[in-house]
Amino acid sequence: MNGKSFEFEPHVVPHVETKYRKICTPIPVPESKDVIERLRNNETISMTGQPLVVWDHAEGANVYDAYGNKWIDFSSGVMIANVGHANPEVQAAVRAVVDKPLMCSYLFPTEERAKAAERIVSVSPIPDSKCFMLSAGTEAVETAMKLARTYAHKKYGMDKNVLITFNGAFHGRTLGSQEMGGMPSLKEWIKHQDPEIILADFPNKYLFDWADPEAEGYSDDKMFEMSIIKCIEDAGFKPENVAGILTESYQGIYCCPIPVPYAKRLREFCDKYDIVLFMDEIQTGFCRTGKMFAFEHYGILPDMFTCAKGISGSLPISAVVGRRDILDLYAPNTMTSTHSGSPLAAAAANASIKYMVDHELDKEAERKGKFMQEKLEELQKKFPHRIGYVGGMGMARACTFTKGGYRCEGDPDFALAVTNKCIEKGLLFFAAVGAGITMKLVPPLIMPDDMLAEGMEVYAEAVAEADAEMQ
Ligand SMILES: Cc1ncc(COP(=O)(O)O)c(C=O)c1O
Repeated sequence: MNGKSFEFEPHVVPHVETKYRKICTPIPVPESKDVIERLRNNETISMTGQPLVVWDHAEGANVYDAYGNKWIDFSSGVMIANVGHANPEVQAAVRAVVDKPLMCSYLFPTEERAKAAERIVSVSPIPDSKCFMLSAGTEAVETAMKLARTYAHKKYGMDKNVLITFNGAFHGRTLGSQEMGGMPSLKEWIKHQDPEIILADFPNKYLFDWADPEAEGYSDDKMFEMSIIKCIEDAGFKPENVAGILTESYQGIYCCPIPVPYAKRLREFCDKYDIVLFMDEIQTGFCRTGKMFAFEHYGILPDMFTCAKGISGSLPISAVVGRRDILDLYAPNTMTSTHSGSPLAAAAANASIKYMVDHELDKEAERKGKFMQEKLEELQKKFPHRIGYVGGMGMARACTFTKGGYRCEGDPDFALAVTNKCIEKGLLFFAAVGAGITMKLVPPLIMPDDMLAEGMEVYAEAVAEADAEMQ
């Protein structure tokens, strides 16, 4: 639901009580109005875009309010709580640092930062990686842009400055990340957009015949040409001018994977012209898609990648990870941030990554993700006139609602109705993304099987009810 607030209009809804859900009040809860009003009076309107569930506490795969209600969480925050909310091992690690006490450290060395750096590097598939920690995902993207261009400038001069990114991409909300993003409406405020940041079409078969192996005239080479080569030529550049290519490891709006032949060509192209290939793993990283990092599905390695969200399962921490010769381009004190590797966040990241490795959450996400996809495909068969696309990887699934089905106009009203119904039934979602038409189903990876099955059942019920009511 981009661009709209959720309205505070409490509905009396049926009582729900199962092992995993409880709804015992009108929704939104009338008593929660005070909190919502205080926020709306003091915070920006931009912060009012999520359903009006006032979180009190969250544990495992449940979110609770203070009024007796309990939701199955299909949001994981926004793909933060991969290891579950308040994961006991993460909680204990954070508590130990609080109790020391060590609440900040700037860039002075700490044991916590050393452990987190080791841990992050230990899961990076890029040989001999280094990492650089920050707080927000968008900062990691900005830093990666800076590193890609710096690498190219130092080696080849300022004419190798072009950055390629993709239409439809999202990389964050600070200046550089928005310029690298592919959603025009988010960039309207930037009068002087960087003419050397250019946008290619993402190879999404849902949008383009040239990316659909079943379409007439399709070939792997043509797919790459229609995307990267066309974009460079249309902008009047040569491959030699390109410093870096940034892509999400799947395109976030639809959780749309990169076709393997395309990924391979992208890697070869970057090798040929010494272009830094950097991938945004901020959503996809840390087992969400069934591998530690989503690019591992494609059999290629980027030169560096950005991560955040699921890295800590809790506190704000992000990182750029990648080739040592690129990460080490800046001299002491010329690429830092006040909270880089802050002890609490570092301890949380260390514990969270250890937990996912010890518990093989990559395999869990792969297995449970298949079940989710089967259920979504069943739903699409039942409601082909409502659902245009279902897809994703691992436990990052997307369901796009349209007026009429495959490749039809999006239907934000229907997506909103389904979201509201889910909330009223005790199944928590964040607002639909893109033009408000795609619901992301992204539960904590530790969600028990029967809880996931219940969540998928409730989702199907919500779609069926919205369909019946909106004839
Ligand atoms: C793919 C991707 N990149 C970057 C970001 C920005 O991260 P942050 O909100 O932590 O700045 C997000 C956030 O949703 C994201 O999904």
